Amino acid sequence: MTEPTEPTRPAEPTRSAAQSVPRPPVRTGSSQADLLVAYESDRPGFLLRAVERHGPVVELAEGTVLIADPPAVHEVLRRTNTDFLIASDMRRDEVDGSRGGPGTDSWMRARRAMQKGMTPAALLEHREWLVEEADRLRSAWRADGTIADPLRDLEDLTARSFARFCFGTREIGSLPGRTGDLLNALLPLVGSPYQFPRAIRRLLPRHRRSVSAQKNLEGEIRRVLDAPGEGGLVESLAAAGLDAEATVRMLVAGGLASYRVPAAAVAWSLVALARHPDVADACADAAAGHERSASGTPAPEIIQWVTAESLRLWPPSWLLTRTANGAQTCGDWLVPADATVMIPPYVVHRTAPAFRGGGDPLAFRPHRWATLQPGAGEYFPYGIGSRWCVGRPLADLELTTILTRLVAELRFTVRHIAERPDVRATLLPRDLVLQARPR
Ligand code: HEM
Repeated sequence: MTEPTEPTRPAEPTRSAAQSVPRPPVRTGSSQADLLVAYESDRPGFLLRAVERHGPVVELAEGTVLIADPPAVHEVLRRTNTDFLIASDMRRDEVDGSRGGPGTDSWMRARRAMQKGMTPAALLEHREWLVEEADRLRSAWRADGTIADPLRDLEDLTARSFARFCFGTREIGSLPGRTGDLLNALLPLVGSPYQFPRAIRRLLPRHRRSVSAQKNLEGEIRRVLDAPGEGGLVESLAAAGLDAEATVRMLVAGGLASYRVPAAAVAWSLVALARHPDVADACADAAAGHERSASGTPAPEIIQWVTAESLRLWPPSWLLTRTANGAQTCGDWLVPADATVMIPPYVVHRTAPAFRGGGDPLAFRPHRWATLQPGAGEYFPYGIGSRWCVGRPLADLELTTILTRLVAELRFTVRHIAERPDVRATLLPRDLVLQARPR
């Protein structure tokens, strides 16, 4: 008889074996209906808790995968247009988002033309306009004291900023208003987690309202393009050979993207500074020095850190989505065929190792950016890969210039803010009322 032996444990997989077998997402076992109820009560909080509970890649319900694992995030976003698609348009109607597909190639050409037009010289010239307009807002806020709707005031500024950057000296007429109308008409379509079948969707009044708002905006863009005046990004688009249709399409998309998103970013920075007076004082000192420096001097470091830290904790584009083009592996993970992939910068920015290292990842600590170097897929308020934000140079300029001018002379306090942000599309402070006092 042989001696009894310890029960044999299965051998640990070797590193290379573990790497070669992709892991499926952890399943919650929830039905789509359960998922919707939980998600609707607190969307970002629900996604954050799902990652803390189940790990960084979770199948929330069949066919819906949440990815917050930085290497996998990086992979998915880098492989957009091929393996992972942006498969819906601005009103969430299905489109073929694959490279070579109708629409995608012409969109990518338009993107390249837009990127080319965002030259340092064009941005420097635009900065002069922005400084003047931010100072005008500063005076108005100083006179008002109580700012009942700061987001609306900032939207007015960022919408006009985009119009001015694009159309130069042409009279922009009702362009900002028409852009706001379209954005508001789209909100019920993009903000709802429910999706009716296509045939029904088209009959809904909200769908028809958004189509008519889009037509009005496109008509206004064509009118401004023909108006007397010169300069602006539209001349670069024309020089790059974009036809009228592609130009209007890009101006509609850019107008929508630059109306509320940068305004939200500035508003979140002001809220954070109101809650951290020591950081606000440091910003004010740096900003006062900056006002005396030569035009073209980059924004003070502390302002850049405040902007980076606000975009980390409150990324206005808080949730990106893709559709898996068939079954896909990414990083160590296997994504089921045709899954809807949810990638929330809001969650990744609060859980990624880079931000855990320096202490509390949920704390607002702009100085962490003095030494911080996030790894791939850890920090992406402007996205990653072929579809990353084409307006980033303009957005960076707007955020740092507006913030520098405002904080140089004003001290902010929060009079009111709702506990939960508005997350239907852009992450917005809800019911925000600020108080501004001269320094
Ligand atoms: C703080 C300001 C901004 C933030 C945080 C931001 C963020 C983003 C993000 C995350 C994406 C990628 C979405 C995805 O991968 O699904 C994106 C796309 C885009 N952004 Fe921005 N954005 C900002 C300002 C702007 C501005 C000022 C413009 C206008 C020039 C702009 C134009 C666009 C366009 C046209 C796209 C679509 C790109 C594509 O689908 O190929 N954005 N933005």
